[in-house]
Amino acid sequence: MTPPLETPRLLLRPLELADAEQAQPLFAQWEVVRYLTNQVTWPFPPDGVHNYYRDVALPAAERGDAWHWTLRLKSDPDRLIGCISLMKGREINRGFWLGAAWHGQGLMSEACEVVTDYCFETLGFPLLRAPKAVANVASRRISERQGMRIVETKESEYVSGRLPTEVWEITAEEWRARKAAGIG
Ligand SMILES: CC(C)(COP(=O)(O)OP(=O)(O)OC[C@H]1O[C@@H](n2cnc3c(N)ncnc32)[C@H](O)[C@@H]1OP(=O)(O)O)[C@@H](O)C(=O)NCCC(=O)NCCS
Repeated sequence: MTPPLETPRLLLRPLELADAEQAQPLFAQWEVVRYLTNQVTWPFPPDGVHNYYRDVALPAAERGDAWHWTLRLKSDPDRLIGCISLMKGREINRGFWLGAAWHGQGLMSEACEVVTDYCFETLGFPLLRAPKAVANVASRRISERQGMRIVETKESEYVSGRLPTEVWEITAEEWRARKAAGIG
């Protein structure tokens, strides 16, 4: 079960298949997909989000292997503006995207605070790991601000080609120490 969460400006609602209709046109933008793994095909198919939610995201949530939330502004709760997910596994435990119109307002930083806290304090993950393209400055900055550390550098295949990658990580203990210090 994925519970609803909230931040000062955002409602995080558990993902439903019906969300695909609003997510598709926001996600299928070069600015949004270029630094995502090349498992995302480009050009992006018109039913790509629906099929991904139906065949991958929602079955993983039902198995208890993933938690997916849509993001909405409290001021406009019927409009989906992005998504954030947690995943079990050793390679990648968190992923997120936001429609380009809402970039640069601190919204994903806000969502990451509450979702990372949920990951450690409710789900009991021992650590959170997230690889990202070095070129993805906004995403790297979120990791940096959250007190994550780079544990590996390598190259990976993205929608925009092969690029340098940094693998970022934070443990539950480090997250709690950061909270106790009043950071974030
Ligand atoms: C990554 C993404 C979710 C960031 O969301 P956002 O809400 O715009 O991010 P925020 O506004 O919270 O900004 C986070 C930090 O990055 C900085 N930043 C945001 N956009 C930036 C940009 N285009 N260039 C440089 N820095 C940027 C912000 O200033 C902020 O830094 P600060 O905390 O020092 O002020 C958004 O850019 C996105 O959806 N990108 C496409 C999908 C993607 O790449 N997902 C991540 C895959 S690893």
